[in-house]
Amino acid sequence: MFSRVLKPSTIIALQGNARNFSTSQQRNVKVAVAGASGGIGQPLSLLLKQSPLVTELSLYDIVHTPGVAADLSHIDSPAKVIAYNGPDNLKAAFKGCDVIIIPAGVPRKPGMTRDDLFNTNASIVRDLAQAAADVCPKALIGIISNPVNSTVPIASEVFKKAGKLDPNRIFGVTTLDVVRANAFIAEAKGLNPLEVKVPVIGGHAGVTIMPILSQATPSVSFPSDQLKALTERIQEAGTEVVKAKAGAGSATLSMAYAGARFAISLVRAIKGESNVIECAYVRSDVTEAKYFSTPLLLGKNGIEKNLGLGTLNEFEKQLLKAAIPELKKSIQKGEDFVNKK
Ligand SMILES: NC(=O)c1ccc[n+]([C@@H]2O[C@H](COP(=O)([O-])OP(=O)(O)OC[C@H]3O[C@@H](n4cnc5c(N)ncnc54)[C@H](O)[C@@H]3O)[C@@H](O)[C@H]2O)c1
Repeated sequence: MFSRVLKPSTIIALQGNARNFSTSQQRNVKVAVAGASGGIGQPLSLLLKQSPLVTELSLYDIVHTPGVAADLSHIDSPAKVIAYNGPDNLKAAFKGCDVIIIPAGVPRKPGMTRDDLFNTNASIVRDLAQAAADVCPKALIGIISNPVNSTVPIASEVFKKAGKLDPNRIFGVTTLDVVRANAFIAEAKGLNPLEVKVPVIGGHAGVTIMPILSQATPSVSFPSDQLKALTERIQEAGTEVVKAKAGAGSATLSMAYAGARFAISLVRAIKGESNVIECAYVRSDVTEAKYFSTPLLLGKNGIEKNLGLGTLNEFEKQLLKAAIPELKKSIQKGEDFVNKK
C-alpha cells in the first residue's frame, strides 16, 4: 500500500531498501524498542517490522509485549519479533542489539510541560541506559522519552559512570520536529512535503526547538510576522497535539513515523550506506550547551561528523540566544539526577 502512496525515496527513508546493499553489507541487525507496548512503541514497532533491513526486533516493556509481539509476528516481513516482558527480561532484550530506541515513560497531559515528566521518566531512562551499558555498550541508542533535553544527559552520565561512554552513540530523537517543520513549510508554500527539508536544531522543548528556515531546501522566504508565527507553531506543535488529544496523551503516530525514520537511518548507516544525515540531540561542542541538536553525518559507529550550525541569520541568532540558557538548565538537571544520588 505504501508504495502506491509514497515516492521511492521516502519508502527508503522509512523502511530502508535491502537492494541498496552489497552482500558484505547485508549483515544482521537487531533493533530493540523499549516501551514497545505504548502509544508510540506499538506503531513504531510496526514500522520497524516492515523494514527489510531489520533482522530481529526485540520488544521490551513492563506490560503487554507478548500480545504486541504475537500480533506483529504474523506480518510477512523478515524481521523475527521477540517479546521481553518486565525488568527480569530487560538485559536479554538488549543483548546483542545494534540499535535501541527508547519511547518508554509517561506522556504529557494538557497544561504540562515536558519537564513536568522528569520525575517519572528520569529513572526509567536511567535504568534502561544502565542495562544497555551492561550488555550492549556499543549499541546506537535513540531516546524519545521526554524531557529529551535532560534524558540524553542522564543516559550519557550512566554510561560515563560505567566507564563505557561513547558520545557518538547516544542520540535524542528530534526527528519529529524536522518532520513537522517540513510539513508546515510545505503547507505554507504549497510545496510537495516529500521535497522539503528543514533542519531543526537546538533541543526538544519550547524555545530550544530552532527551525532554521534560512537553510531549508528548496529555498523559502517569509515576511517577518509569518516567519515568527511559523517558528512558534513548530516549537509548540507538540502542545497542539496534546491539546487536541484532550488528556489522551501526546503525539504517538507522527512520533512513531519520525522514530522509525531515525532508527532506519541508524540501521542504514550501520550497514555502510554513505551520506545518511539526520538532525539529533547529542553531546556537542558546537555551542556553549554541552548537548545540542545539529545535522549529523551517520556512520557505522554513530556520529561520523557533526555538520554544525551552518550560517544563521539574525532571527535565528536570537533563537539561539533564547535556547542556550534553557538547554543548560535541562542538561544540568539531568546530570545532577545521576550524580547527586
Ligand atoms: N521525542 C519526541 O519528539 C517525543 C514525541 C512524543 C512523545 N514523546 C515522549 O515519548 C514517551 C512515550 O510516549 P507514549 O505516548 O508512547 O506513552 P505511553 O504511556 O502510551 O507509552 C509508554 C510505554 O512505556 C512503558 N513503560 C513505562 N515504564 C517503563 C519501563 N521502566 N521500561 C519499559 N517500558 C516502560 C509503558 O508500559 C508504556 O507501554 C513520553 O515520555 C513522551 O513524552 C517524545
